[in-house]
Amino acid sequence: MITKENVQRSTSNAQRPTPDIEPKLRVVFVGHVDHGKSTLIGRILHDTGSLPEGKIEEIKKACAAEGMEFEFAFLLDALLEEQKQNVTIDTTEIPFRTARRRYAIIDAPGHNEFLKNMITGASRADAAILVIGADEGVREQSRRHAYLLSMLGIKQVVVVVNKMDLADYSETRFREIEQDYRKFLQQLGLNALTFIPASAKQGENVARASMKMKWYCAASALEALDLLETQKRDVDLPLRFCVQDVYRFDGRRIIAGRIETGTLRMGDELIFSPANKSSVVATIERWPHVILSEVEGSSGTSSTATQRDSSTSLGIIAIAGDSIGITLSEQIFVERGYVASHQNETPIETNRFHADLFWITREPLRVGHFYDLRLATQQVKCQIVSIEQVINSATLETKSDQRERLERNEIGKLTIQTRSPLVIDNYDRVPNLGRFVIVDDGKICGGGTIFGGVYTDRTVAKSKNIFWTEEKITARERALRTGHRGAVIWLTGLSGAGKSTIAQSLERDLFHRGMHTYVLDGDNIRHGLTSNLGFSPDDRMENIRRVSEVAKLMADAGTVVITAFISPYRMDRRRAREIALEGNAEFIEVFVDAPLEVCEARDPKNLYKKARAGEIREFTGIDAPYEAPDDPEIVVHTDKQTVDESLATILEQLLPRLRDYGADD
Ligand code: ADX
Repeated sequence: MITKENVQRSTSNAQRPTPDIEPKLRVVFVGHVDHGKSTLIGRILHDTGSLPEGKIEEIKKACAAEGMEFEFAFLLDALLEEQKQNVTIDTTEIPFRTARRRYAIIDAPGHNEFLKNMITGASRADAAILVIGADEGVREQSRRHAYLLSMLGIKQVVVVVNKMDLADYSETRFREIEQDYRKFLQQLGLNALTFIPASAKQGENVARASMKMKWYCAASALEALDLLETQKRDVDLPLRFCVQDVYRFDGRRIIAGRIETGTLRMGDELIFSPANKSSVVATIERWPHVILSEVEGSSGTSSTATQRDSSTSLGIIAIAGDSIGITLSEQIFVERGYVASHQNETPIETNRFHADLFWITREPLRVGHFYDLRLATQQVKCQIVSIEQVINSATLETKSDQRERLERNEIGKLTIQTRSPLVIDNYDRVPNLGRFVIVDDGKICGGGTIFGGVYTDRTVAKSKNIFWTEEKITARERALRTGHRGAVIWLTGLSGAGKSTIAQSLERDLFHRGMHTYVLDGDNIRHGLTSNLGFSPDDRMENIRRVSEVAKLMADAGTVVITAFISPYRMDRRRAREIALEGNAEFIEVFVDAPLEVCEARDPKNLYKKARAGEIREFTGIDAPYEAPDDPEIVVHTDKQTVDESLATILEQLLPRLRDYGADD
């Protein structure tokens, strides 16, 4: 728990230095199985002197003992095995360095793992080395990997044509592969900076220029890597502070979260999306690591972490990668999922966007089905609106016909709609807020990247209100959200004519269409809202008046209200219509018509019998009048039509009216 004692502020106000003294380039190595990926990595580690002392001798010895020839690939296997056992390393990154800079090799055991890691942000690559075996040439996986790189926005690619020793160091063979693959990469928008003929096994053109391929004079693999650029560091991107939790202690409201990108300073004006209210950062709080893990809901409370950072410091600057808490000068509403940014660099707030989605589970993705979508600390329900294009990640075959499903290992370009607003970025602008995962039943089923979102220029904002109007929500605004207008569907007719039955089935139908609906039924309302009323003309008038007022309010709230009351008097129904129209609600009168004899024969509640016997007075149709409507919008004849037929008659006229709210204006 967070207590005053363990969150004492330190007196030091020292500004934190900007980290990343020396940028590191993260490279992912991909290639068809057996084309020499591991050998190339082993060779690079060896030739750059990045192996632990005695490692190579150790492995050579082990090989000799097994009677096997030493291979560089074994080195990598041994290193990875050690990393797995070393729990302090959470991502598989193998470091090495050249004279120019530091590198990290990202290990990608399979493309699914790689993609999952990249999309969830577990790892990130600035560049890729694509390995192709000169003996086999471009294979299916070479294409597949290239496609994935393009989808993930890794644009810098170095192609190493390996195993040139098995192709007699032939320039013709190399040029053949180069021509073939370069054309393919261009189609994907990938810029292969260099094609290098190499032999990782023999060390040709890896760290040193090959004497066996004098026809090639350009960069060796390591020289080519040194020519690549590191991507913009997270800290240099626009600020995205993702809120994990808000809580109070010490009389203050602390907003805890992680800075995904950018820099946040004390005194900064932040915009919190969605809602886009602004407030100024009053303080930046830092806690012992152990407390923050509790805040984040993680169970890892290691004692070493506590020792490492046992003092709490109050900083004036926090940067990408920091998990911090802040307090605000104005106490605006903020909760988990909110994203804070700077005024002139706000993210996009939307509930519809385009994305590339890679589907990894057996159960296909289905249009219309609801899924959970997680993006940074946000979690919303979403629905796939449409799948515009499907690419098979194995064959890279593209299909543009409209599809309803996305199968395992397919990548779809699709449109996603979320139930509530989502704060996003385009992947190529802020990767951390431009990727998401789709979760079904608690299981990650796919990952995606967002593209094509349009940023609005908020610098032109003149007042705070520009973001969020304080005026009444209009009927049209409500309709735009629900897809239909509010309305009162007024069913009238004799007792036993079928009003309740039709009301229920009409509601079920509209509800299934995603509409907001509610039934007000005489038999129910008379138990509450109008329980003090009987069946005299005056009481019936008051009954209908109250119901009309309630229906009007509900219609104004955007609901399709279906009322089922005998409402025998024309006057009362006219009044009901006037009340609805006062509230600008649509009013549709439906005459549920059935001859008295039919209703009496049905007598579902045995009331006609009682009325005939004189046990009930003022019973409609017996000793009280029913005034049939002169000009109702809809008439159904329940003695001649089935329930479904009556329903069809109503829907035919009703649906166009409910949908007509000027959505396209
Ligand atoms: S209304 O006339 O005021 O619109 P309402 O629809 O609320 O009547 O209530 C009708 C229901 O009340 C009937 O379906 C029936 O179950 C019950 N009821 C009890 N007494 C009477 C009566 N005298 N006349 C009509 N309905 C009655």
